[in-house]
Amino acid sequence: MTAAVGFGIDIGGTGMKAAPVDLAASGQLLADRYRISTPRPATPDAVAGVVVALVRQFEWEGPVGIALPSVVRNGVVHSAANIDDSWIDVDAQGLFASVLGHDVVVLNDADAAGLAEMSFGAGVGRNGVVMALTFGTGIGSALFVDGQLVPNTELGHLEFRGESIEKWAAASARKRENLSWRKWAARVSTYLQTIDALFSPDLLILGGGASKSAEKWVPLLDARPEIVVADFAYSAGIVGAAMASSKL
Ligand code: BGC
Repeated sequence: MTAAVGFGIDIGGTGMKAAPVDLAASGQLLADRYRISTPRPATPDAVAGVVVALVRQFEWEGPVGIALPSVVRNGVVHSAANIDDSWIDVDAQGLFASVLGHDVVVLNDADAAGLAEMSFGAGVGRNGVVMALTFGTGIGSALFVDGQLVPNTELGHLEFRGESIEKWAAASARKRENLSWRKWAARVSTYLQTIDALFSPDLLILGGGASKSAEKWVPLLDARPEIVVADFAYSAGIVGAAMASSKL
């Protein structure tokens, strides 16, 4: 059974954001999202404390979906590229469920964003091989085959010049290296061409924080697959996490 209203939390490197979400038709947030800075260091216990504060803020009583920038299998965290290393091997689902006293589901943040786009956004009705990519601090990926998610693809970590390609092509690289939009778009094009060579996607959905300025770089991209801009930029992780929680 899918509930009509869900609650999602998106945990990022700098901010943790939450809101209730209308899952019946629109995927829209039912209240302004509430943001608390990610604690430093972002250890599991410190983050769990903020999760409790976010849920209390909305007096939410139902199941909670939580998106993390990590490989998450059966609720357990298996990678920590842009979060504290102490997350590795932590049963995040068990930790959050015990501090909240609610049912919890934990999933990868890009997978959550992709779920939101496929159900309510740029990917609605799209079959075949669809890849949703998020450009922010890192690069997140969500792969869909005929609408079915293949979780934890982690394609921001394809190796390029001896390191993860996200170090070179994420939105954070543009800011860090003060690149022009054109120079950064050329890097993203190289990345998308690599994705095309490996997966031959029918559609690429480009999201994450950088999609808010899509007009500055998306028209400059050079890659074969059809490209669309995500409908949900900042709220996609919240919406997808809420969707996952509604299945509990
Ligand atoms: C992480 C992914 C995450 C992506 C976007 C990467 O560094 O490994 O799990 O989806 O950043 O946050």
